[in-house]
Amino acid sequence: MVQLKKITLVLASVLPQWVYGAGLHASAVAKGKLYFGSATDNGELTDAAYLAQLSNTDDFGQITPGNAQKVSEANFPGFWRKTDCIQWDSIEPTQGTFSYTKGDVIADLAAKNGQKLRCHTLVWHSQLPNWVSSGTWTNETLIAAMKNHITNVVTHYKGKCYAWDVVNEALNEDGTYRTNIFYQTIGEAYLPIAFATAAAADPDVKLYYNDYNIESSGSKSTGAQQIIKLVQQYGAKIDGVGLQAHLIVGSTPSQSAQATNLAAFAALGVDIAYTELDIRMTLPSTAALLAQQSTDYKNTVAACVANTKCVGVTIWDYTDKYSWVPSVFSGQGAALPWDENLAKKPAYDGILSALGGTASAGTTTTAATVVTTTTTASSGTTTGVALYGQCGGSGWTGGTTCASGSCKVFNQWYSQCL
Ligand code: G3I
Repeated sequence: MVQLKKITLVLASVLPQWVYGAGLHASAVAKGKLYFGSATDNGELTDAAYLAQLSNTDDFGQITPGNAQKVSEANFPGFWRKTDCIQWDSIEPTQGTFSYTKGDVIADLAAKNGQKLRCHTLVWHSQLPNWVSSGTWTNETLIAAMKNHITNVVTHYKGKCYAWDVVNEALNEDGTYRTNIFYQTIGEAYLPIAFATAAAADPDVKLYYNDYNIESSGSKSTGAQQIIKLVQQYGAKIDGVGLQAHLIVGSTPSQSAQATNLAAFAALGVDIAYTELDIRMTLPSTAALLAQQSTDYKNTVAACVANTKCVGVTIWDYTDKYSWVPSVFSGQGAALPWDENLAKKPAYDGILSALGGTASAGTTTTAATVVTTTTTASSGTTTGVALYGQCGGSGWTGGTTCASGSCKVFNQWYSQCL
């Protein structure tokens, strides 16, 4: 038999405490935005503490699969060969099949959490299997393969995505087209063809052009505006531009520079989203760098808040624990608003303040009462769900009391000991 025992602790805390009101997503919605969100990746979802915060819809109303929907060999083995009749027979059966498994996991998570899904990405030069990027294509066969890919993937996720990044990173830094297999074989027409194909497969999903280093005026931003005009001139649907915003502490464009840039995109009649925001620094992180990073995040998010065509902001994962930055930029990192231990950094407060939120810092001197509920077995041994374990949610049949911490409700499906 199990007994419930209540222990009441009265703590006179003298430790600095952060008091938060509404979170990032709730505050963004209050400002008229559709969402504040985060990217994620499949390997991270086994980290219960990580998953709990990702699923905290007070902070995140939207998620993006950081890798799971890309045209990698792992996600779409042998896929592009399907339309290449010459090689069709050489494909092993397993190579000719789609694998939506990883993408579906993240789509299902978003649905379960009630979060919007930004889908990423359909046509990109990176991560292509060699036999696509180095294959022998004609204009006709590559258009057919690209259309086949887009049609199948968009149809599979129809009704699940708020938006698709249809074409990703088509530009060089000077605003000219990147030399990739699509441009080399099809010319710039690959862009409107891609958008028209996606629109035909799902007329309701928002279709975006997505790129980096287009967060302030300049050649590359002008190039992105040209792409929007090109797609529009072809009569194809393009709904938005995604500003990736992989920025650098201390070099982030000012709010006013970003506002000017956003106005240029808005004048073309498209929506705007910050799609992959992170702001990296040269390590080690210092208090001064963290303060500057907070200001940089604040300026960027405030630019979105101030432009009615800017629908939302997505950070490229939320914790330094899973950031892509250190593996690509040696000696740099600490780019996200949560640190490697999932603790909020000053950047969180910078974002929240841009969203009109109510974070405040101070030293609490009043007594705080913490009520801890423990489960005690009749033998006298204290039991309960371990820290970070699940302790409730719809259909949950396991323990509902925590050995340490308390059972925090994240949503109707998931409560966790924290
Ligand atoms: O999953 C495999 C794993 O099985 C294998 O053992 C391991 C060994 O290298 O690789 C793992 O795949 C890696 C994947 O991330 C998942 O972690 C790839 O090698 C690695 O190249 C891939 O990097 C991603 C990168 O895009 C390239 O696709 C980053 O996580 C992702 O954050 C980054 O995201 C891009 C956006 O899509 C576009 N904008 C820029 C942004 C940052 O580079």
